[in-house]
Amino acid sequence: MATETTTRPATAADPDKIAAIRAELPAVHERVYLNTGTNGPLPRRAHDALTDYCLIELTEGRIGPAVFARSAELKAATRASLARLLGCDPREVALTHNTTEGMNIALMGLDWQPGDEVVTATTEHPGGLYPVYLLRQRHGVKIRMTDIGLPGVDPLAELRKVLNPKTKAVVLSHVCWSTGMVLPMRAIADLAHSVGALVICDAAQAGGMVPSNCYDLGVDAYACSGQKWLLGPDGTGALFIRQDRLGEIGQTFMGYLSIRPGMSDHQGHFVPTEGAQRFEVVSQYPPAVKALGTSLDWIADEVGWDWAYARIAALGRYCYDALAPLDGVTMHTPRDAMAGLVSFTLDGITPPDLTARLYERGVIIRYTPYPHVNRVATGFYNTEAEIDRLAEQIQEVRASL
Ligand SMILES: Cc1ncc(COP(=O)(O)O)c(C=O)c1O
Repeated sequence: MATETTTRPATAADPDKIAAIRAELPAVHERVYLNTGTNGPLPRRAHDALTDYCLIELTEGRIGPAVFARSAELKAATRASLARLLGCDPREVALTHNTTEGMNIALMGLDWQPGDEVVTATTEHPGGLYPVYLLRQRHGVKIRMTDIGLPGVDPLAELRKVLNPKTKAVVLSHVCWSTGMVLPMRAIADLAHSVGALVICDAAQAGGMVPSNCYDLGVDAYACSGQKWLLGPDGTGALFIRQDRLGEIGQTFMGYLSIRPGMSDHQGHFVPTEGAQRFEVVSQYPPAVKALGTSLDWIADEVGWDWAYARIAALGRYCYDALAPLDGVTMHTPRDAMAGLVSFTLDGITPPDLTARLYERGVIIRYTPYPHVNRVATGFYNTEAEIDRLAEQIQEVRASL
């Protein structure tokens, strides 16, 4: 495959490139794979990197100076690849094990006082929402719930209704996992900052689906999953914390990686590890870190992030337009603010039942609990023909009801 990182529009006129991409992803040949929003397909080379590293651990052991140096280099390389994705300094990136961990680190790090307020939305995923619930229970924080993310709701107007000087944080997803709405994060961040609130952004769906330059987005914290659109293994993720917010987002968990080597005494004084790395605390699984870095570098260097973003969005629109006219289908994604997630319902069948029926027919999608809808995720490796097949299968299920 040609090495390219161009911004050339992604179209179906790139069959060779798409064939080469698909050759790298064995799982996409098993079924029509339209659920990267849960777990992306693992690239062959990421799998190989993972198993090669496992073999080294098996044969050479997991101890000794060379091993620790290798592990530190590996983490630094993967942080650098993540920083490339997020358009930030590698010192602003902490390796995590998933988005949920990143959301908890950022949210629990603020100095919450009774009466402080946090803004969030009914559409948020439990990975960001449940930590907010804990803030209420533990610190008496007032939750200002909104319907941001629902189609027909103007996110900025909705936010303006609840923001006030007591708002300490705004907790929202860059891309809503259930409706697929892409939120205007920059405008949200500007509004939040105007009242002194921080923006803690859930990027589980956004990281790898839409451009995620954290400085451009204006977010203070941005938590990503490795296993979804970044095509890494389970148990990987990343948390961006803006350098100048480290004074406000403190450490909650402490371990041997939290303190600069030699920079503590036995009286409890210490200097934290530099940058966001202080949040890594203890261990990462090296084979998984290696595999995530391998996936990221493949997408960056061979697929091209801009190409991937454009292809994902083009397929998302293609999917929307293929499903919207079908008999009995209601769309739940705003077509003017979407990328790679398309939500819909089909009359006469529940979202879980339709998910199961499509799986039997070789098509993998999913459903979400709120709104209770079916969701399609269009990866850069998908094809228009696969989406046509999805549409056909939906019609066949409808005909069988
Ligand atoms: C918006 C959103 N946030 C958080 C999560 C949880 O991600 P993780 O398993 O990486 O914590 C998901 C997973 O589906 C999600 O869609």
